[in-house]
Amino acid sequence: MTAEPGRALREPGPATGDGSVPAIFLDGVRFGFHVDGRQTEVIGGLDLEIAPRSIVAFVGPNGCGKSTLLRVIAGLLPARAGTVEVEGRPVTGPDARVGLVFQEPRLLPWRSAFANVAFPLEVAGRDREARERRVTDLLGLVGLRDWSRARPAELSGGMRQRVAIARALALEPAVLLLDEPFSALDSLTRERFNVELLRLWERIGATIVLVTHSIAEAVFLADRVVVLSPRPAQLVADLVVDLPRPRRPGDLDAAAVTRTAAEIRAHLEGATDDAFAVAAGDVPAHAQPDQAIP
Ligand SMILES: Nc1ncnc2c1ncn2[C@@H]1O[C@H](COP(=O)(O)OP(=O)(O)O)[C@@H](O)[C@H]1O
Ligand SMILES: [Mg+2]
Repeated sequence: MTAEPGRALREPGPATGDGSVPAIFLDGVRFGFHVDGRQTEVIGGLDLEIAPRSIVAFVGPNGCGKSTLLRVIAGLLPARAGTVEVEGRPVTGPDARVGLVFQEPRLLPWRSAFANVAFPLEVAGRDREARERRVTDLLGLVGLRDWSRARPAELSGGMRQRVAIARALALEPAVLLLDEPFSALDSLTRERFNVELLRLWERIGATIVLVTHSIAEAVFLADRVVVLSPRPAQLVADLVVDLPRPRRPGDLDAAAVTRTAAEIRAHLEGATDDAFAVAAGDVPAHAQPDQAIP
């Protein structure tokens, strides 16, 4: 929720190590779904602090609660217990400070790319001129300025995902949550998108939380990789990716990548027998990370 004018803001939450207020602060967060009168625990008490303007990757087995966790952070699902704060203020419902890109782009099929990106601005009551300026900027940012009139069916999967990212950025969120945004893309397109995402991140100055099944992708993109347990999701490991930025294809210190990737894999294997299902799809366990990463 955005602050109401004239109402005092809540005191900012606890500061991070360098004294700044965390972009995301989770304290004892629990969530469960009710199915047939029974409660299924999905998030089992999570504490997490994410520094402003960082990129954090969440990895964990299928069905452990990653998508659910992003919805809780975005205020689309209410935490059953604990605190969710963004920039030091509680999230109590759908929140303009948080942009969410779902696993599938979920665009409105009858609307053009332009009108899809404009949608949140319309809902927020921005006037036409402000909307046009903002949408034009956003489509430029994601490389789709020439496709503004195209409908989703006329766009490739990757282009649709870019429209969804532009739409999520429309209200200038402090936090951008990306739920396996590239999983439907072929691996070459995906590598290019990873590089583009880093460029985008440098320009928007937002905090990014990314769910991915690719260990290599997590290491290439993130400052930190958070490994989650099988459902109910709990923190298994929180690893710092010690690679300099800007990260460029071929720029990576392969030893550091290999070390971090091996650590993540070990934690996933410790957490579940199903660990190989997590890494499956794009990075075989024997692959050299520097071959798997753009
Ligand atoms: N709307 C829902 N109602 C009931 N159970 C759900 C719902 N959405 C997800 N779940 C269950 O919650 C668990 C976590 O799902 P999800 O967050 O999608 O996992 P992940 O994204 O890590 O694969 C799964 O067991 C899933 O079946
Ligand atoms: Mg999911």
